[in-house]
Amino acid sequence: MAYRILLIILFALLPLSAFSLPFNEDMVEYQLSPGQISRGEPKGSIAVGAAHKYIANKKEAESFTNPNKKTESSVRKGKRLFSVNCQPCHGKIGPKENYVIGKVVMGAPNLADKTYHERTDGEIFRTIYFGNLIMQPVGWKLSHEEAWDIVNFIREVQGK
Ligand code: HEC
Repeated sequence: MAYRILLIILFALLPLSAFSLPFNEDMVEYQLSPGQISRGEPKGSIAVGAAHKYIANKKEAESFTNPNKKTESSVRKGKRLFSVNCQPCHGKIGPKENYVIGKVVMGAPNLADKTYHERTDGEIFRTIYFGNLIMQPVGWKLSHEEAWDIVNFIREVQGK
């Protein structure tokens, strides 16, 4: 009995959801993606959140040199950005005795380790924007300046 009532209610509701479907499709089809704006971008400007679109490929990202001076303010900003965007996986980076492993993914390396001293600023920048073997790109939510602040923070922790 209860089963039949349920079936009747389901059929009664069906047209409602059917009508809402084209609307949902429209919502998806015409939704602006991050960085897209509904009118032409002024020449030489970059829409908020779209900075990643202006790097052609990994090679180009790698070739960049750090335009941000490693000032106290840049390192402080980098530390804050790292704690939000990188720390969940990479942990609280630092010398072995202080390192606290990330809570989200096991195996994201401590970037204060010697191996990562040898990476160029450009290579770290590339990893932020294009990810690596396992790591997914994170740069789409950062401006270039923010990414370089993170690089500066990593360098500071490495003592470089
Ligand atoms: C979802 C987890 C995750 C997040 C978030 C993440 N990483 Fe990673 N990252 C990894 C893992 C796992 C590796 C090691 C495997 C690999 O190289 O892909 C790695 C590797 C790296 C490497 C070393 C690549 C190399 O040259 O060998 C760098 C540098 C790096 N991450 C920087 C960052 C920075 C900076 C952020 C924040 C902007 C960040 N990662 C955010 C998971 C993450």
